[in-house]
Amino acid sequence: MSTAKKDYKKVTTNSLFEMKQRGERIAMLTAYDYSLAKLVDKAGIDVILVGDSASNVMAGHETTLPITLDHMIYHASSVIRAVDRALVVVDLPFGSYQGNAKEALSSAIRIMKESGGHAVKLEGGKEVASTIERIVGSGIPVMGHLGLTPQSIYKFGTYAVRAKIEAEAEQLLADAQMLENAGCFAIVLEKIPAQLAKKVSESIKIPTIGIGAGGDVDGQVLVLHDMLGMNTDFSPRFLRRYLDLGTQIPSAIEQYVGDVKSRDFPNEAESY
Ligand code: KIV
Repeated sequence: MSTAKKDYKKVTTNSLFEMKQRGERIAMLTAYDYSLAKLVDKAGIDVILVGDSASNVMAGHETTLPITLDHMIYHASSVIRAVDRALVVVDLPFGSYQGNAKEALSSAIRIMKESGGHAVKLEGGKEVASTIERIVGSGIPVMGHLGLTPQSIYKFGTYAVRAKIEAEAEQLLADAQMLENAGCFAIVLEKIPAQLAKKVSESIKIPTIGIGAGGDVDGQVLVLHDMLGMNTDFSPRFLRRYLDLGTQIPSAIEQYVGDVKSRDFPNEAESY
């Protein structure tokens, strides 16, 4: 197995499968708008997830439940206009696929047609397997999502680590196998014990992408605004911050306000 990085002109679902086979880790981040997606793509990310976390990050909702299919299409089409290389995966929002497979397929088709996204993601295990088969059967790639599935937060009642007990861990392993059989090209594993994530990753051929699932998965995903340090109130153990924008942005704005008030800005060189 070679772990050398291969430079893909455009990342596809097939590239991700090859990365797993080579042992090359997959790097995924969220993005919801044109300007940041452009920077994320330019920096060499493999996958951009237009996550329904836009409901929290962009709209300030407490959960991912309120975001609509129209909102997701708006965010995804902005991201697509920015991206040259990354594979763009778009979340099917709560209420757009749980009803039945036909409804799920028409939601997925709307995302593909109206945003230009490359794939969709949906949450759940065996209860969504036939829905996944239907969507994949129509030619749309599907990413699965197991473990902590935020669209079910009111069922769980908490954002705590999932599948710590044996029965839940066994069910998650079975669900991962089912999602692979149903045709998923990859699975997000959110907030589960690292040992379980390793076992899942070794038991299926498609890549696993972890968030709070340890290092023995095939790739990692973080919410962009969290890893850039924009949300100083959110500090789960799995989050590594690469910038401190939560203090840098207000400090830059304070300087600007001061410069305007003191008439330092604009100076002569900044005027026509
Ligand atoms: O919506 C999202 O950002 C996600 C990631 C946390 C995987 O689903």
